[in-house]
Amino acid sequence: MTIPTPQPSDKFSFGLWTVAYPGRDPFGEPTRAPMDPIYALERLAGLGAYGVNFHDDDLIPFGSDDSSRTAIIDRWKKGLADTGLAVTTATTNLFSHPLFKDGGFTSNDREVRRFALRKVMRNIDLAAELGAKVYVCWGGREGAESGAAKDVAAALDRYREGFNLLGEFVHDKGYDIKFAIEPKPNEPRGDILLPTIGHALAFIETLDRSENVGVNPEIGHEEMAGLNAAHGYAQAMWQGKLFHIDLNGQSGPRYDQDFRFGAGNARGAFWVVDALLSGGYDGPVHFDFKTPRTEDDEGVWTAAAACMTNYLILRDKAIAFRADPEVQAALVAAKLPELAKPTLNEGESWSELEASTGPSPDELADYGAGFEHLDQLALEHLYGVRGA
Ligand code: GCO
Ligand code: MN
Ligand code: MN
Repeated sequence: MTIPTPQPSDKFSFGLWTVAYPGRDPFGEPTRAPMDPIYALERLAGLGAYGVNFHDDDLIPFGSDDSSRTAIIDRWKKGLADTGLAVTTATTNLFSHPLFKDGGFTSNDREVRRFALRKVMRNIDLAAELGAKVYVCWGGREGAESGAAKDVAAALDRYREGFNLLGEFVHDKGYDIKFAIEPKPNEPRGDILLPTIGHALAFIETLDRSENVGVNPEIGHEEMAGLNAAHGYAQAMWQGKLFHIDLNGQSGPRYDQDFRFGAGNARGAFWVVDALLSGGYDGPVHFDFKTPRTEDDEGVWTAAAACMTNYLILRDKAIAFRADPEVQAALVAAKLPELAKPTLNEGESWSELEASTGPSPDELADYGAGFEHLDQLALEHLYGVRGA
């Protein structure tokens, strides 16, 4: 198998903070120098990426005055034009400054909440100007370390109030922007509100303009919660809510590892790609990873390129898996086509079902599902002994 080359048509995008991560962690100082955002654009474009995503503070240092802000934005726009990269997505940093220590939209302090919403609105104006279509909201500080510190119902009221206001804002300004909420179970807070895809999907249904709000699930965050990320992505697509994706790697429930995509749980990554292809996801294929602090600048670009390479490898494998005649026969034997068939006959009522008869329980139990054979075919594709 030849190693595929990323193309802009693959729609790969990266958060500016991912490649610029300098290697600071709770135990150690940065191991890499701060990265010029224009250098990041140049290197990403050189690797075949299509777009970028950024937090306001990734580009414009917190507290910059208006004239430096304008100069930074002008330079950024020139960098985008020169490299041809698109701004697919933008987001707000509501977690770094000490003022956000108890959250942004759900801080117990009302003035903090008002500040947070103003900060988001200001950056949505910029996102719209730069052509972003998705606005990601990761509420990393929305949560608590202890029981009585957060009234969850009141906090969810405030969370909803915040999204309703932003929905109104985007609507009134006529922006073509959708919101994507990113769940995470913990870190940096002991417990974060909207901890999983399921919590976020349920919350979204309570919003005034819920049609404009979806999810941005990150593989690692679902796996931190011990969940099957592919199932989560599939349900989000089933509900028409997969507005954006954060692909990365994670090895089971532990700290947020943010490995490059395809590292960590490789089998899980295969099923995520298969789910995205099966569900027809057509948004940016976005990576949210952090290069380990052991690496230098070249290591950063090795890791960034590897995210795309691993996606392309797994995409080829998932396509080959689905196209394999033995797999197709195994899917039939495992009754997948039967699952796609409604349980009731056309027009059948509950009383007709109640009155009907079928095979006896013993007859129904008398079969082998064939799932092991099907899964072994998948692993053989993944392990590279079958398919292209
Ligand atoms: C994490 C998060 C963040 C967010 C990003 C967008 O790894 O905890 O993924 O990286 O995605 O900050 O707001
Ligand atoms: Mn993460
Ligand atoms: Mn993320």
